[in-house]
Amino acid sequence: MTTCFKQLVTKKIVMAKDIGIHGNLFGGTLMAWLDEAAAAYATEYCYTPNMVTVRVGELIFKKPLKAGQHVRIYAEVIELGNTSISLKLEATKYNLYSGEETVVCSTDMRFVRIDDDGTPTGIGETVRRKHELRLKGIEPSITHL
Ligand SMILES: CC(C)(COP(=O)(O)OP(=O)(O)OC[C@H]1O[C@@H](n2cnc3c(N)ncnc32)[C@H](O)[C@@H]1OP(=O)(O)O)[C@@H](O)C(=O)NCCC(=O)NCCS
Repeated sequence: MTTCFKQLVTKKIVMAKDIGIHGNLFGGTLMAWLDEAAAAYATEYCYTPNMVTVRVGELIFKKPLKAGQHVRIYAEVIELGNTSISLKLEATKYNLYSGEETVVCSTDMRFVRIDDDGTPTGIGETVRRKHELRLKGIEPSITHL
């Protein structure tokens, strides 16, 4: 599978209000954070707000999160299709003292670009050129595209 390098999208702090009955971060809250981060990254990557989620893959909660802990969410493009973009998402627990990060949750999501009628429409050529460059390890600026 071809991948692009992963990008930090979101930082969060687990608040007392986010804790469920087991004393851990409520799973639905983390899912919402992942969904928002993924949507923000996919639309930014594809230069369009007109994208919808078509698929969420297996979601693994590897480790619990407690109140006060810092969370980072990373996204990585794993595939650019005709009308879709697939991302790998990873949430990590960030240790403020050591800078160490531990993966707490991971999944993958696919978004589809749609037109005004909600019909799938092709990912733009500019996005494809950028993606090709990034696969070669080049981080293009918008003026190069
Ligand atoms: C997303 C949606 C527009 C796709 O419509 P569709 O008629 O299935 O589209 P197509 O069959 O032409 O497929 C379009 C793309 O979606 C992908 N796709 C469709 N169904 C899929 C599935 N079950 N799993 C993974 N990818 C899928 C196709 O692979 C294709 O990608 P590609 O062009 O890069 O190869 C439509 O299913 C939809 O509107 N779903 C609801 C979206 C939504 O409300 N999301 C929640 C809030 S954002």
